[in-house]
Amino acid sequence: MLRTHTCGVLNLSHLHEKVKLSGWIQRSRDLGGMTFIDLRDRYGITQLVFNMEVNAELCEKARKMGREWVIQIEGMVTERSSKNKNIPSGDIEIVVDVINVLNKAKTPPFTIEDHTDGGEELRMKYRYLDLRRNPVKNNLIFRHKLSIEIRNYLNDIDFLEIETPFLIKSTPEGARDFIVPSRMNPGQFYALPQSPQTFKQLLMVSGMDRYFQIVRCFRDEDLRADRQPEFTQIDCEMAFVDQKEILDTFEGLIKHLFKKVKNIEFDSIPQMTYADAMRLYGNDKPDLRFGMTFVDVTNIVKGKDFKIFDDAEAILGINAKNCASYTRKQIDALTDFVKRPQVGASGMVYIRYNEDGTLKSSVDKFYTEEDLKNIAMAMEANPGDLMLLLSGKLEKTQKALSELRLEMGNQLELRNPSEFAPLWVIDFPLLEWDEETHRFYAKHHPFTAPKPEDVELMSSNPAAVRANAYDLVINGSEIGGGSIRIFEKEMQNQNFKLLGFSAEEAQAQFGFLLNAFEYGAPPHAGIAFGFDRLCAVMSGVESIRDFIAFPKNNNGRDVMIDAPSEVADNQLDELFIKLNEIPQ
Ligand code: AMO
Repeated sequence: MLRTHTCGVLNLSHLHEKVKLSGWIQRSRDLGGMTFIDLRDRYGITQLVFNMEVNAELCEKARKMGREWVIQIEGMVTERSSKNKNIPSGDIEIVVDVINVLNKAKTPPFTIEDHTDGGEELRMKYRYLDLRRNPVKNNLIFRHKLSIEIRNYLNDIDFLEIETPFLIKSTPEGARDFIVPSRMNPGQFYALPQSPQTFKQLLMVSGMDRYFQIVRCFRDEDLRADRQPEFTQIDCEMAFVDQKEILDTFEGLIKHLFKKVKNIEFDSIPQMTYADAMRLYGNDKPDLRFGMTFVDVTNIVKGKDFKIFDDAEAILGINAKNCASYTRKQIDALTDFVKRPQVGASGMVYIRYNEDGTLKSSVDKFYTEEDLKNIAMAMEANPGDLMLLLSGKLEKTQKALSELRLEMGNQLELRNPSEFAPLWVIDFPLLEWDEETHRFYAKHHPFTAPKPEDVELMSSNPAAVRANAYDLVINGSEIGGGSIRIFEKEMQNQNFKLLGFSAEEAQAQFGFLLNAFEYGAPPHAGIAFGFDRLCAVMSGVESIRDFIAFPKNNNGRDVMIDAPSEVADNQLDELFIKLNEIPQ
């Protein structure tokens, strides 16, 4: 037996017991005649003590052992004279009488401490060491607990977990596919699934009725803190449900998870239409932890000879409460912020509502005190507030002001990481026009059903068609998305047509689904949650990498195993693949 206990369980109730422990040396300290070692495993830390006077040979041996060596010890649980209240085993220590070195270790390239000295890239390279650190380890434990609770909840309401294939057919919609060459079918390729979307719909045709899967998905897209090329979805589908039932079911899931894992209870999750989200927050994933909603002042500020406003399609503002004291320097920094290419505004107008009731703006030349008062009234501003206005094309202005709102939320510490504001955003547009390719794309995906009352618009005004599609947003992060599906072949064909597919192309790409719809497809609907994102948001963290055991870096590389990498010529030959010259 290599251990009788773990390093996290021993306390005063074990006094005078003989125990065996195994683990890693976190640190050791020599204090004159005594040597102390902190022994660590997944469960915690236990202090080992060696006394030169009692056993000099053992003490010498202990002193020679380095950080992260793997050892096994035998000893007696005794009460500590100076207790450590910060750890559960802090009242006791082990007086050791046997040490076995199970394995020596090189000095790790960074300290295995909660606050390490290792940079991101180095820790990624030695991820197996990074995972020894409490914060990273605890994230994986959190993820595990969440996955168990997801399964418990869904299992209790009759969902079946069913696996779907990873080697599937490439489709032109959505993000780029990762493709996999087939040796047995030279010149042909599988694609890794961006999601199990079509398979889960086929499972509904099969009568599976309530499906879920905690499943890896693959998308070859640009990476960000909340995006990985392979990520995990909680993918779900139900037959014979309407939108209310589906939202209720998954609202139940989210409530269950917050209750079980964080002991937080929600009332019902509010709903907001896409149109309102854009109007009030300029964003389809608004962070509702704070207000600062948009005010459209277009009609109030136009016609005063201020050309920039007069030429603008929209002039939108936010009221930063109690920020009139912002200095010139702070306001200039905000102007620089909105001018960053990622934000995209060409400038910012501010109106300061001084405590004494006077108003001062960056465009005083064009607006009288009376004009500024009118703007302040529209923006529900009071003395002490600071109004920030952006202008230009509507969509661009919404996007930029949304970024500014979030920045103000950060600066004013209104985005408390331990507060949670979930929201259903509903009634998304069915289609999205792309200026570059001059065609419509599905806003969600091509299998999403239009709202029945908007079906007529599909031929007359496709851009205005709303979909029965919904997203779950928490704290400004898109956690999940889904829709009521099209389940009739004619409607699916009509939608493909709007998306620019000819009947032949639709048949070639999605014939299997269209055919299945001819064999008794039930009405169905579904949703998928980003599991990594859910873990991160529930923990108040931005980066999903922290919740993935072996993540990729921003270039899509696994720097630990060094992937992707070149393959041998004979592997390429077998696949009949010839590489072009790769530009340096
Ligand atoms: P969607 O594309 O909205 O829907 O994806 C669902 C959720 O998955 C998460 N997500 C990601 N997480 C990490 N890295 C990524 N690259 C990434 N991409 C997406 C998001 C997102 O909300 N088949 C549909 C769902 C359905 O209709 O049922 C789908 O995949 O949290």
